[in-house]
Amino acid sequence: MLQMKDAFVIQGLGGKRTLQGKISVMGAKNAALKAMAAAILFKDPLKVENVPQIEDISRLGEVLEFIGAKVEVKDRTRTITVPDGASSALPEEIAKRFRGSVVLTGPLLARFGRVTMPHPGGCVIGKRPIDIFLEGFEKMGATVTEHANEYQIDASKEGLQGVDLFLRVPSVTATETFLMAGVLANGKTTIRNVALEPEVQALAEFLNACGAKIEGIGTPTLEIEGGGLLESGGKSYITPPDRIEAGSFAILAALSGKDVEISPVVPLHIEALLETFREMNIPFELSGETLRIEDKRGGEMLPTQIKTHEYPGFPTDLQAPMTVLLTQAKGESPVFETIFEGRLNYTEELTWMGADILTLDPHRVLVRGKSALRGRKLESPDLRAGIAYVIAAISATGESVIGNAYNIDRGYERLEERLSGIGVDIKRVAE
Ligand code: EPU
Repeated sequence: MLQMKDAFVIQGLGGKRTLQGKISVMGAKNAALKAMAAAILFKDPLKVENVPQIEDISRLGEVLEFIGAKVEVKDRTRTITVPDGASSALPEEIAKRFRGSVVLTGPLLARFGRVTMPHPGGCVIGKRPIDIFLEGFEKMGATVTEHANEYQIDASKEGLQGVDLFLRVPSVTATETFLMAGVLANGKTTIRNVALEPEVQALAEFLNACGAKIEGIGTPTLEIEGGGLLESGGKSYITPPDRIEAGSFAILAALSGKDVEISPVVPLHIEALLETFREMNIPFELSGETLRIEDKRGGEMLPTQIKTHEYPGFPTDLQAPMTVLLTQAKGESPVFETIFEGRLNYTEELTWMGADILTLDPHRVLVRGKSALRGRKLESPDLRAGIAYVIAAISATGESVIGNAYNIDRGYERLEERLSGIGVDIKRVAE
């Protein structure tokens, strides 16, 4: 495990665009986590490839081992075997720390008839309730009992029943949780208003390849015919490239890049960002799986409006890096964060770096560019705000120290190494 007390020290470029070279994109965190959880649905070992080497993946591996699964680690491949005798009580200390663990509840409940879970943690980005999960499990025939620090969910009498579920909001992890629960439930589960994120689709397609009966992939309604445990038969889940990581690097390149190539990317997965680039007068080239951004913009970067939205809209996970970029666009750019309350709190620190950002309400800010940024000492409050601070620090004048690097390591593998490779002056130090 990387040290929890690490910090990144960055020497800024003073607004110059000098970064040059190729930067690789790792497998998607939010896809690999769910594929690893899906191992609970399999009677044979499940191989997940192209797994990013990040803290959240290690934590999920620890949770799986805690409940009795065998997790073999070989480079970027995890082979996970979940025996019949596995426990379904999630360890409080680890599960509390990251939200990804919540997706274990669906497959555990479906396979073992019960699950005990603490209130899940994750990034501090406002309220992150689990009411949709609990209500859905109750509809599927489980009883939910709330204790001081944990929920006990029990469906051991008759097993989980396939039912009709309508998600009040198209939650990503709730969709994945019920999708996996439905695979082993009795009868047919219909989930309406599901999340359409590529990670959800990749999971559903892989489960189908291994014997699940899921219809409607890529549409707002999923229908799952429940059955027995799945068999991978040696097939591997290949984690798709991380669209949020690709987007974060693209934003960095648009701000500080002379000539940067980012790959692999799936162009369809980052369309909302690329469309925004077009509007902002940021040129880019796509060639197969490579996105190239060069410093050949004629004229100023233009302001735009950002409104986060479920996929295929503008991702909330790119809102913070994009806001940094907007501080360098000439004019006013309103940013409307519609998914998470509290996911704009990091903007206050950007104003201390010299940005002109007016808070309108907890969901809205107005960015007025462009303003020179100055390096300073910052604390990474969460994963995406953390990378936004890194991007701001690279463009700023002078030195920045970004504490709590753990929050960045949760989602970005060996960030300092990869950024150094394109010319960023960044060092990891013990705090
Ligand atoms: N919501 C509820 N009740 C619930 C569940 C969710 O009201 O029971 C609400 C949330 O409060 C939020 C909205 O639904 O307002 C959407 O949240 P969602 O459930 O989709 O988020 P999530 O599944 O917890 C995943 C990613 C996040 C990403 C969001 C949105 C994982 C492990 N996490 O979270 O990723 O921001 O979808 O795309 O897949 C990150 O990687 O930095 C990250 C935070």
